[in-house]
Amino acid sequence: MTMTICPPEADRDLSMYARAAKMIKGAKRCVAFTGAGISVESGIPPFRGENGLWNKYDPKSFDIQYFRQNPRQSWEIIREIFYEVFGQVQPNFAHYTLAQMEIKKLIKAVITQNVDNLHTLAGSKTVHEFHGSLKRLVCLGCRHKYKVSKIDLDTLPPACPDCGNILKPDVIFFGEAIPEPARTHSFGEASRADCFILIGTTGTVAPANTIPGAAKSNGACIIEINPFPSEYTRSVTDVFLQDKASVAMEKLVEEINR
Ligand code: APR
Repeated sequence: MTMTICPPEADRDLSMYARAAKMIKGAKRCVAFTGAGISVESGIPPFRGENGLWNKYDPKSFDIQYFRQNPRQSWEIIREIFYEVFGQVQPNFAHYTLAQMEIKKLIKAVITQNVDNLHTLAGSKTVHEFHGSLKRLVCLGCRHKYKVSKIDLDTLPPACPDCGNILKPDVIFFGEAIPEPARTHSFGEASRADCFILIGTTGTVAPANTIPGAAKSNGACIIEINPFPSEYTRSVTDVFLQDKASVAMEKLVEEINR
């Protein structure tokens, strides 16, 4: 286990943003790891905390056993949250900045727990969707996948055009396994990266929440962006940028371009 001193003693007198910028510019392989918080400024509520989705909706609608037994009831909630609320949202400055950082080779990839497709929409090319994507539906029977735009969601539950079985969003429900190749790619990044930028995640959901710790134990320096402390802040974070995602990304880019 290689323990890197992050930030190096010499950088102790730099501002937090200057330290973070120096880490990113000096990294061989920097990776972003994002959660619901990066999409809050796009109008998507987080799952936890003030006005979190789980305060309003029962997570059971996203439990695979409940879904199999109550597909219509589950779909009514899923459609309301994910296709009526989420459906119209656009990437925000933080998503676009990560896409620009990839173009400038400052980051190699984004690992996201989000299913809103906003990183791809913002132009990020290497996005590992650890919890899948709402943009696809998958058949519980034949496992065929369909673009959600091609399926009529007025009749619930939607039926597979091929085999007639029930379609579900291609996102991980509670009780389901993490999809491949996202799982392998994400833990692969944690074994290779020397810099991780955590953005907008509480760190409460496994196994996603083991990825930053794996990166840390492999010697990565951990930068965290969040307006509030998370499970990571006292455990793995080396530089905590306590701001909203878009505010932090603007300050970070300013320091990187200095
Ligand atoms: N900018 C950055 N972070 C923010 C902002 C913002 N504007 N607003 C809120 N946050 C932070 C909150 O402080 C919190 O730490 O975003 C985080 C949101 O936490 P969660 O809602 O728990 O989201 P996340 O960590 O991504 O949840 C993980 O849980 O329910 C499952 O599958 C779901 O992928 C999700 C997983």
